[in-house]
Amino acid sequence: MPMQTVRTRPIEGQKPGTSGLRKKTTVFKRPHYLENYVQSTFDGIGGVQGKTLVVGGDGRFFNDDAIQIILRMAAANGAAKCIVGHGGLLSTPAVSNLIRRRHSDGGLILSASHNPGGPDADFGLKYNGPNGGPAPENVTDKIFGCSKEIEIYKITASGGVDIDNLGNRSHQGMQVEIVDPVADYADLMQRIFDFDKIRALFAGGFTMRFDAMHAITGPYAHAILEGLLGAAKGTVVNGTPSPDFGGGHPDPNPIWAKDLMDVMYGADAPDFGAASDGDGDRNMIVGRGAYVTPSDSLALLCAKAHLAPGYKDGLAGVARSMPTSRAVDRVAQRLGIGCYETPTGWKFFGNLLDAGKVTLCGEESAGTGSDHVREKDGLWAVLLWLNILAETKQSVADLMAELWATDGRCYYSRHDYEDVDSDKANAMMDALRSKLTSLVGTTVAGLTVEAADEFAYDDPVDGSRSTGQGVRITFSGGARTVFRLSGTGTEGATIRIYLEQLKTAADKLQMEPADALADVREAAMILSDLSAMTGRVDPDVIT
Ligand code: G1P
Ligand code: ZN
Repeated sequence: MPMQTVRTRPIEGQKPGTSGLRKKTTVFKRPHYLENYVQSTFDGIGGVQGKTLVVGGDGRFFNDDAIQIILRMAAANGAAKCIVGHGGLLSTPAVSNLIRRRHSDGGLILSASHNPGGPDADFGLKYNGPNGGPAPENVTDKIFGCSKEIEIYKITASGGVDIDNLGNRSHQGMQVEIVDPVADYADLMQRIFDFDKIRALFAGGFTMRFDAMHAITGPYAHAILEGLLGAAKGTVVNGTPSPDFGGGHPDPNPIWAKDLMDVMYGADAPDFGAASDGDGDRNMIVGRGAYVTPSDSLALLCAKAHLAPGYKDGLAGVARSMPTSRAVDRVAQRLGIGCYETPTGWKFFGNLLDAGKVTLCGEESAGTGSDHVREKDGLWAVLLWLNILAETKQSVADLMAELWATDGRCYYSRHDYEDVDSDKANAMMDALRSKLTSLVGTTVAGLTVEAADEFAYDDPVDGSRSTGQGVRITFSGGARTVFRLSGTGTEGATIRIYLEQLKTAADKLQMEPADALADVREAAMILSDLSAMTGRVDPDVIT
């Protein structure tokens, strides 16, 4: 019997969030766990009979085994074809590109993004739709609905599919095409950016360090930066994907990419530094002695994108997630283009991109992207920066100083309190919510509250409404704090407090961020009463 129909029953807690289903690897490896979720996904999207799916992951522990299960289940469910990255590898933006370019019916991405990988770390799976973007809520709701009623799943009985050799093969009547993970993506990048200009920049002695953090962008960065663009060998470090990301935390921020920060602030710093995360959709940008916050990077890219051929006609508009700083709003206003504020999570950008309302979008959590795919894209952001650096011949620090002199500087920081008792975290948020209206007009830590609300989003394209998207409190004088609970943590609750302070005076543009944010930080602690409510004082991570 080549096909099996396996009896199963619903498993608790298979509700996909903004990034699909993310759990401990040990949970994903439990009997029927992955299979139930894959079958629920197939059922939730109306079946996969006759469909073509793109499948690939960031190479973390369990990637290979999970892909085999997915391929066997796709075949048993009647899929016509699966396009799979060589060795099971594909970055998230590369999956998005392949889905679009091949006009496929969607794809499955195996990753827990920037979360650590390994037998005792995290794993994840998400479905992206035919537009190449994360499934919208109505689809993830259907998937969840199916997971609560599942009775059977289908899987082929036969052994594995060879994914380690390029080319076409078939598995129980389903076609399987193994593709070079980099080729189509590199081709897209060459159509957006001026590779000749960037090549000339490197040939002229420009130096760079790209830290792939032992994750998926290694092969892409080696091929594009060192190969096509002629950056010196050794420009890309930690460039071989490993199942546990070299034991590290593949999150490109000053904490987890500390090695890169040390080099960039050291005596022999190269001109430009960058890093990407586990699945290749996030980016970190740092100049010589000049770290660029993701919010500032979005603002700079918005101001200068027209220097790259792909954006030479200007931008239709920009979008940022609500907690992202308002730096980009100021640039957009100056350029006279639309600026949208969306809830956290990339999926909210999809409709705006599809409708042609925005060209660039980004989040404070190091995600930046454009309408070239429907995911954020780490290496794309790095290449756009390189294209701008090649055109302007300015340093990163000078570009930022120029931007701040024009639009003011939005000092910004995010404080994360991890693994907080969920009940306590919810109680803190409830207490905040209950007093929002009474806060307006009051003064806290010397700052006067101008507005306070819980963010709700009305999608201007499909009219859907998303409520409960975080508490935002703005103060007169350009300060703002935002409170929300993470939707991606895998243990307890993670409280995120976002702090922002605009400064426009010429002598206030080069402050220490912590100094510029001291007042708003104090106000946030008083307003939330975080220490009393959760027993926590210092954040676990400050970015
Ligand atoms: C975090 C980030 C958010 C991002 C998401 C997926 O979500 O804050 O910007 O879209 O990861 O990468 P959170 O844990 O805050 O819900
Ligand atoms: Zn990611």
